[in-house]
Amino acid sequence: MAIIFQHVTHTYSTDPLHTFLGLDDVNLTLDEGRFVGIIGASGSGKSTLLQHCNGILLPTDGTIQIMDYEIRSGQKLKSFRDLRRRIGLVFQFPEQQIFEDTVEKELIFGPRNFGASEDEAKELAQKALLTMGLPLSLLQRNPLQLSGGQMRKVAIASILVMDPDLILLDEPTATLDPKSRDELIELLYRLCKEHHKTIMIVTHRTDEIMDYADEWIVMKEGTVAYQGDTQGLYEQIKHGEHLDIVLPKPLRFWQQFEEQFSLSCPIHHYSAEQLAEHISQVVHAKGASACSKD
Ligand SMILES: Nc1ncnc2c1ncn2[C@@H]1O[C@H](COP(=O)(O)OP(=O)(O)OP(=O)(O)O)[C@@H](O)[C@H]1O
Ligand SMILES: [Mg+2]
Repeated sequence: MAIIFQHVTHTYSTDPLHTFLGLDDVNLTLDEGRFVGIIGASGSGKSTLLQHCNGILLPTDGTIQIMDYEIRSGQKLKSFRDLRRRIGLVFQFPEQQIFEDTVEKELIFGPRNFGASEDEAKELAQKALLTMGLPLSLLQRNPLQLSGGQMRKVAIASILVMDPDLILLDEPTATLDPKSRDELIELLYRLCKEHHKTIMIVTHRTDEIMDYADEWIVMKEGTVAYQGDTQGLYEQIKHGEHLDIVLPKPLRFWQQFEEQFSLSCPIHHYSAEQLAEHISQVVHAKGASACSKD
């Protein structure tokens, strides 16, 4: 399910005199089955972009093609029922999507709405809760009275329970403990690579998805300032492109390393372990050439 943005602009208007540009003439093609990291400074348009991918927000101008839908300004949201089942959005602030007074009701709402029986929905709810590492004892708790991390996990579970094809997540690891963060990213990666889901994840923590991202979208002032792989992102920043982002730590380290050793070589591997291996090869090669000169 490719997603195509064509000249998409979104203007927020709080009143006729005050308008704010969320997206500014965005053109974008996203292929299915990819793990996509969406990054950029605060206010650059990441959440606005994500919310256009399932019709929660409609463009002010331009069109978005997704599945058999063409999303345009002024459409009725009711027409997106099937789209909503197949595209799950985890909001930046989980309390914005939680509206039931028990975790169980929250989790069964989606499946019930799309035809599952009460028992089937409850079984799916329990599975989703356990997938998120939460105990079944939470089922009867009020989700809004849980800790921030638990609430976020419930919000994510309420999306996973629908088994969507495209999973959009807006800063899903904010408020999660480090172990839960790693587990969530690995779960999403497995869903992407083993179950062919498309994952789009907004994050300020580039380090946590660097080993996983097939592709990055860098938002800047409502526009797409970069779309492509890690190598390209690194090259852009190395050559002084101002994307208002900080490179993931292994890439910052690599940049320093290249400068110190006056090198310029492509990096094909991005995890800390793979970089260490690559560096060791470079150092050995340098050592050998230094020795041969003596
Ligand atoms: N409800 C709203 N009303 C008016 N302006 C808005 C609204 N939501 C977002 N904006 C504006 O749209 C622009 C993009 O906001 P958006 O929330 O998409 O940024 P973001 O990249 O997700 O930022 P953050 O990293 O802080 O979450 C900003 O200038 C913001 O002020
Ligand atoms: Mg945001």
